[in-house]
Amino acid sequence: MAGDFGPGARKAMEIVVALGRIYGARRLVSVGSVQVAGVSYRNLGEAGLEFLREWADQGARARVPTTLNPAGMDLHAWRELGFSESFAHRQQAVIEAYRRLGVRITCTCTPYLVGNLPRVGEHVAWAESSAVSYANSVLGARTNREGGPSALAAAITGRTAAYGLHLDENRRASLRVLVRCPVRTLSDFGALGYLVGRAARNRVPYFVFESQKETCSDVTLKSLGAAMAASGAVALYHAAGCTPEADQPNVLVSSPETLIVDDLQPAYAALNADVRQIDLVWFGCPHAGLEEMAQVVRLLGGRRVRTALWITTAREVRQRAEIEGLVAALEASGGRVVADMCAVVAPMRELGFRTVATPSAKGATYLPSHAGLRVRYGTVERCVEAAVSGVWPG
Ligand code: F3S
Repeated sequence: MAGDFGPGARKAMEIVVALGRIYGARRLVSVGSVQVAGVSYRNLGEAGLEFLREWADQGARARVPTTLNPAGMDLHAWRELGFSESFAHRQQAVIEAYRRLGVRITCTCTPYLVGNLPRVGEHVAWAESSAVSYANSVLGARTNREGGPSALAAAITGRTAAYGLHLDENRRASLRVLVRCPVRTLSDFGALGYLVGRAARNRVPYFVFESQKETCSDVTLKSLGAAMAASGAVALYHAAGCTPEADQPNVLVSSPETLIVDDLQPAYAALNADVRQIDLVWFGCPHAGLEEMAQVVRLLGGRRVRTALWITTAREVRQRAEIEGLVAALEASGGRVVADMCAVVAPMRELGFRTVATPSAKGATYLPSHAGLRVRYGTVERCVEAAVSGVWPG
């Protein structure tokens, strides 16, 4: 803060300390990694781009491994996908500013699939609500829901203020969720997350799957957490038998409230608009891993699609998918593995899309308000059928 590391570092430390004061932190902690959000030019605009450039001009550089959230387009295939020159030019300028700030240009909301994989108990400073949920809940790392500037400030200083979810006492659950209905598919986990997020009201949920804990996997927990983050800003949850802190003594407060979930239909009803014709089928929210891509390829079974079909993912994961033959298999059906981007922050209407089908509850929550699209939400199977026929089945 005295300026020994230059004006860029001083500004970053001022942000970290100001947040610490606001939230009553007693100390700072070193962070092992940072995930920065605020990348799409559509959201940042010229003012956001200038802010980043100015910080880079002041000599600010990330001091800890720092990864980046998705952009508003595929950084390589934007032209083929129909993005305009003017948008692409400004988006590239944002990426260049982050590069100068020392950020790894990963452009993904699943940094844990491309090497940013914190250890249990490690303090990190992550932005991107679904990644924050995954880091806290599934990996057992410790992060608050950082905003774009505060995450970048943590990257530049290597520090964050120790408050909120960095502290043991705030990681205890006060809402016990007894799940009494079957939760079988990816979209079921999303639906469950949507309902619990809406009921959570700043509480940490503790899930008890009364009949089927075997359905917990990295992929289904990713979907559950992303949905809760979207519908209720939940940054941490525990699930008995599934997540690393769930079995610790005192993980529940002494008299938690109980929420019983015995029907997922209200979530499906809330997330579905009454549309039949589908323009785009979107998988990969949060960004897909190989297993999810393989499932879509398997379900297509070589059939051609009538709609656009995109699976969004990290570029590094796309490269692995290429080696595995998944990209070629999907393209043979007319689909695309689209890297670097998120449809929620992309100019989707300018690309001509009006309706989307997705098995992502987070996507279904945000696409109407953020991208102006009407959404069908359902299982991966139904979404694949919609891609093949061009209409929502049933
Ligand atoms: Fe990722 Fe965008 Fe979904 S950031 S979680 S693909 S809304």
